[in-house]
Amino acid sequence: MNAKTARQYERYLVSNYAPPPLAAVRGEGCRLWDDEGREYLDFTSGIAVSALGHCHPRWVEAVRRQAAVLVHASNLFAVPGQGELAERLAAYTPPGRFLFVNSGAEANEALLKLARLHGRRRAGSEGERFAVVTAERGFHGRTFGGMAATPQEKIQEGFRPMLPGFRHAPLNDLNAFAEAMDDSVAAVFLETVQGEGGIFPADADFLRGLRELCTERDILLMLDEVQCGIGRTGSFFAFEEAGIEPDAIGMAKGLGGGFPVGAIWVAEACADLFAPGSHGTTFGGQPLACAAALAVLDVLEEDDRIAHVRRLSQPWIEELEDLLRAYPDRLREVRGRGFLVGIGLHGDPRALAGHLREAGLLAVPAGEQTLRLLPPLVAGEAELAESVRILRGVLRGNLDF
Ligand SMILES: Cc1ncc(COP(=O)(O)O)c(C=O)c1O
Repeated sequence: MNAKTARQYERYLVSNYAPPPLAAVRGEGCRLWDDEGREYLDFTSGIAVSALGHCHPRWVEAVRRQAAVLVHASNLFAVPGQGELAERLAAYTPPGRFLFVNSGAEANEALLKLARLHGRRRAGSEGERFAVVTAERGFHGRTFGGMAATPQEKIQEGFRPMLPGFRHAPLNDLNAFAEAMDDSVAAVFLETVQGEGGIFPADADFLRGLRELCTERDILLMLDEVQCGIGRTGSFFAFEEAGIEPDAIGMAKGLGGGFPVGAIWVAEACADLFAPGSHGTTFGGQPLACAAALAVLDVLEEDDRIAHVRRLSQPWIEELEDLLRAYPDRLREVRGRGFLVGIGLHGDPRALAGHLREAGLLAVPAGEQTLRLLPPLVAGEAELAESVRILRGVLRGNLDF
């Protein structure tokens, strides 16, 4: 990193992030360049955001065109792009409605407010039925709602008291969830595939069981697809594989392809819980954000990118499993689906990510002992093979991690 950026970081920025190892200044497709001209194969995708890779020409053109016409006018006025985007997204959901926000945490806050409104309707009054059951090892963002929903000491430490009413059960343990889902519970809320916690998918049977329990007990089933949604697992939403219909979904990250866009989808039966004045955001769903998200959908659909992810991910994951067999003392397991893959390690993922970066591959640590590989959905066979080659080279070396 050049001395000026390093000095400015040191002097002017709050140190809430670990010291950054490089300054990213340019991107194109699966490639990222730092300010010293070094090129990297970027399998972080800005933490599952840059679905089309960096600066996809059709995305850039759509954003450029909209920026010259109207960027923002607020939700005082209709934004035609919101209608368009909702209609396009509705092709991937059961009948329902959308509300646009700016980030994953903000989408989840809206879901948690939906849970409160549902609980009030069921109980007939406020403050009786508002508990939310979430999964251990989950992650839902850094707001007060997101933190309370995230049962991790490192996330909650220093910020107590948490918002009341949250309880947790182990992912994929249907009995434990059933036990937690008493009359005080308004919603069950979990990631379909846990991302930050280390790439742990919810089993299809578990999701189907939860769906049944939620219906029986009149509890909302709300899925956080902020990281695993928008094609990343090889279906538009990761829950599709289980063949269930949730009551609400949170999405963000890949939706804007790099522009901050989030949304919630709410099933028709509870969409009327939000009434004028019950929720809002100044920026959410502004014309520029909608244009960016529509460009993501255009490219995913025109280029059939989700089928591409399904087709290419299987052989890639098999190659990663070959590495597992070759280096059992370093690698523990390969988890995940599509282009959302975690390699469980015996050691520290931060150290391995550092060695990979030196060798030209960017990857993201997750959980305590997992390395995440999140290729853009446009990554081809050559880039996937290159990632395996770089990993193999690093694993062969006598490096400590
Ligand atoms: C599953 C999940 N939910 C919510 C969030 C929070 O999203 P944001 O950082 O956009 O607020 C994240 C971020 O990593 C996430 O992975």
